[in-house]
Amino acid sequence: MALVTFTSPEYRDKTVYAVAGSHTQTILKLALENKIPINFECEDGECGTCVVRVTSIDKKMERMGGTMTEKEKSLLKQIGKVTTEQLEQMIVDDLPPEWRLACQMIVRDEDIRVEY
Ligand code: FES
Repeated sequence: MALVTFTSPEYRDKTVYAVAGSHTQTILKLALENKIPINFECEDGECGTCVVRVTSIDKKMERMGGTMTEKEKSLLKQIGKVTTEQLEQMIVDDLPPEWRLACQMIVRDEDIRVEY
C-alpha cells in the first residue's frame, strides 16, 4: 500500500491510498478515482497535458527506479521537462526523473508527492 499525496497551489492537498502492484493503476487513474482535478486530454502519452512533478516522500532510503516508456521519454523531452543527458543519467542511476506523465506513470509501492 502506498500513500500518494496530490498537491496543487489551487487546491487543498489530498492524500490517498494506492494499491501498488496493479500494473494498470496510473497516477491519472488514481487522481480521477479520487476526484483530483489533474489536467489531461489524450490519456495516451501523446499531448503532455498531464505532466506532474513527482517526489518520493518514502521513509525507505531506496528510491524506486521507474520504468518509462519510449513514448513518455520522448514527449517529456519534447516539452522541455527532461534533457537527453538527464535521461541517460537516469538509466545509470536507475532513478526516474522528477517530471512524469500522470497518464503513463504506474503507481509503485512507494509514498510519493504529486504536484499538479
Ligand atoms: Fe495526454 Fe497524459 S493526458 S500525455
